[in-house]
Amino acid sequence: MPMSSPSGPTTGRRVLLGISAGIAAYKSALLARLLKQAGCEVRVVMTQGAQAFITPLTLQALTGETVRTSLLDPEAEAGMGHIELARWADTILIAPATADLMARLAVGMADDLLTTLCLASDAEKVMAPAMNQAMWAHPATRRNAARLAEDGWRLLGPDSGDQACGDVGPGRMLEPEAILEALRVAEGAANTGKGPASGLTITITAGPTREPLDPVRYLSNHSSGKMGYALAEAAAALGARVKLISGPVALACPAGVECLEVETAREMHAAAQRLAPESDLFIGCAAVADYRAETAAEHKIKKVEGEDALTLRLVKNPDIIAAVAALPEASRPLVVGFAAETRDVERYARDKLARKGLDMIIANDVSREGLGFGSDHNAALMLWRGTAGEEQEHLAPQPKREMARAVMGRALACLAARTTR
Ligand code: PMT
Repeated sequence: MPMSSPSGPTTGRRVLLGISAGIAAYKSALLARLLKQAGCEVRVVMTQGAQAFITPLTLQALTGETVRTSLLDPEAEAGMGHIELARWADTILIAPATADLMARLAVGMADDLLTTLCLASDAEKVMAPAMNQAMWAHPATRRNAARLAEDGWRLLGPDSGDQACGDVGPGRMLEPEAILEALRVAEGAANTGKGPASGLTITITAGPTREPLDPVRYLSNHSSGKMGYALAEAAAALGARVKLISGPVALACPAGVECLEVETAREMHAAAQRLAPESDLFIGCAAVADYRAETAAEHKIKKVEGEDALTLRLVKNPDIIAAVAALPEASRPLVVGFAAETRDVERYARDKLARKGLDMIIANDVSREGLGFGSDHNAALMLWRGTAGEEQEHLAPQPKREMARAVMGRALACLAARTTR
């Protein structure tokens, strides 16, 4: 099965880069440069506040174009007027997008050049939010982000980590390289309608599940969702229609992917039962909690004085992937599972392949330093039912994005073999 890389197709794209007033504005200089290097035509619009963080002259030097900063500038309007500029853009990319700018865009204000252009343009619209973690978590920002997504904005990030203000949490602007990669993946997804996975629907589960014990506590695990999200990105870049059922993670929905957020194993099970029969391929990458509390307490469980132990009764969760694999032949997708093991990796993986009725399994040793849970890298043993019996391939330690492409390639080959049988 030929594999296509999601790189390269940005050439010639006309990107209007909007910069608003955040400390991350200094990264926009690198972003402008990367966009130019990728072959885009770039014009920059800065809000008044952005100019306190980075000068228009820097962006002008990097793009070779006059930077626009004001709606009411007769000289600039005499050149390319704001409506012409709005029509010129294929993509409006705002990075960083502050909480204030998001709020103004969410209610459709046109009180400066950038917001006016956004209202006047039917270009693709993408933003990379950046703000303090408490501002990002505030219900008003959550509401605005949801409204913007409804209006067709694609939100990239934010990333989680150390912030300039000293806080730690989600709110950092995605790195310029990651923003460019997201644009490329989306473009790949849009352009590769003729790609090797075009016409296919692929459903993927990712991340952990959370099983409530009481209103403030839950059982969960260390899955970050990175592996599952990388698979979704790779599948979209190959031209598939991708549905991602995700447990709670701190990752943005990949471009060109339909994301469905769930919390518990039972919610994930219900979503999988609904989406799997209309899918050609189902990949279970989520780290699903095998057990949940038999009853989640209605109120916070109190510490009992004089008792040193607390007994919780756990009951089994549904096995999501086994249920998909057991669907009647006519509505059963090709089913690919993962096996997270800490010992006897191959033996346990073979057992899961057979016991859950899967077509393929990716076994990763999650006890290996720097790989598996939470890491950007992984290594695995792929086992699948080939035409000549069970076959296998070792995947050496590598970035999860690369591994995702290898897994997709093998899964599509298995699907093609099944269809021609
Ligand atoms: O999310 P990351 O931080 O990037 O980490 C990636 C990962 C380590 C989580 C991923 O590579 C991985 O191994 N995912 C599967 C984790 C897991 O739960 O493995 P398991 O061996 O317990 O389950 C085997 C298979 O059954 C998996 O496909 C799992 O999704 C599925 N399962 C398990 C239990 C259950 N109740 N329902 C299921 O569908």
